[in-house]
Amino acid sequence: MPQSWDFSIKEELHQVDQEIRRSIQSEQPILTEICDYVISSGGKRMRPGVTILSYLANGGKVVSDAVKIAAAFEMIHSATLIHDDINDRSEMRRGKPSAYKRYGLQEALISGDFLFVKAFSIGGFFNEEIVNMVADACTAIAEGEIVQFEQEGEISSLDVYLDIIRGKTAKPIMAGARIGAYLAEAEPHAIQGMGEYGLNIGMAFQIVDDILDIVGTEQMLGKPRMVDFSEGKATLPLILAIGDGEVEKRLTELFNKDHKTHRDVEEAAELVSRTTALDISRTKAQEYADLAVRALKEIPDSIHKEGLRKLASTVVTRSN
Ligand code: IPE
Ligand code: IPE
Ligand code: MG
Ligand code: MG
Repeated sequence: MPQSWDFSIKEELHQVDQEIRRSIQSEQPILTEICDYVISSGGKRMRPGVTILSYLANGGKVVSDAVKIAAAFEMIHSATLIHDDINDRSEMRRGKPSAYKRYGLQEALISGDFLFVKAFSIGGFFNEEIVNMVADACTAIAEGEIVQFEQEGEISSLDVYLDIIRGKTAKPIMAGARIGAYLAEAEPHAIQGMGEYGLNIGMAFQIVDDILDIVGTEQMLGKPRMVDFSEGKATLPLILAIGDGEVEKRLTELFNKDHKTHRDVEEAAELVSRTTALDISRTKAQEYADLAVRALKEIPDSIHKEGLRKLASTVVTRSN
């Protein structure tokens, strides 16, 4: 079997999980339980992986520093997933009932907040610049999510769609990649290059997530499919498919329905699949992944750089 993108950092990712477990201790056991439920359910650990690979690929030597900040990024990510499933009314995450389904809405909301705060307190261990980069990442998520919410029920323009995914997904990954290089005391051009790497794999990653929402299976994804369409979110494949005269009328009609039945949703998936939208979306994701790989020219060759390169291709070819 070919090596996975994280082959060089298995031990560090294990330490990230331990760091998270330490951070989520609380005198209120339910908070720890909910956070642990989400963290232990799995996940690809891509965000901490990017931070650690970036740190090591840039010559970082104090791995415990990278592990700490990587844990903070995974905690922020998990917090957004807990809140996101509430917003998207999505009932499954990482192969299990979503936190709000399992523990209740208020409990899940508060646990998400708790995770955010605990992530920030890790950031506070470092200097102001790092705290600001983490804060910018969280701001971008909130900004992306609010625009997405405002766009619900609309067929967004391509530019608006790209702005949304840049904010909610790409900028946080960019921050993790940049911080890895910054902590390793890399040269400014290398920090900049890692930022470009993170931003571009983030874009590719979300486009593929939006494709998988249509063509994946719940089994593969560990979360329900066709959530975006059901919730009135226009993602790249839908925006492109609507541009196809053959399906435009019916697809728009289905998208505009307030209450979409299972049949409506399946018909929509079939209509999108009939067009070139999925192929064009895949090409677009590949273009971003190529830009990410190109940005790696700023750093020297190493096994960790190889991991970053592998991740860029995994992001596009993945099925979960
Ligand atoms: C899901 O992220 C949220 C998106 C930005 C699409 P992941 O697909 O990385 O989720 P986990 O961490 O592997 O569960
Ligand atoms: C969520 O995007 C991105 C966040 C930053 C929360 P999605 O809503 O597409 O993520 P999934 O598909 O639920 O994982
Ligand atoms: Mg969602
Ligand atoms: Mg999705």
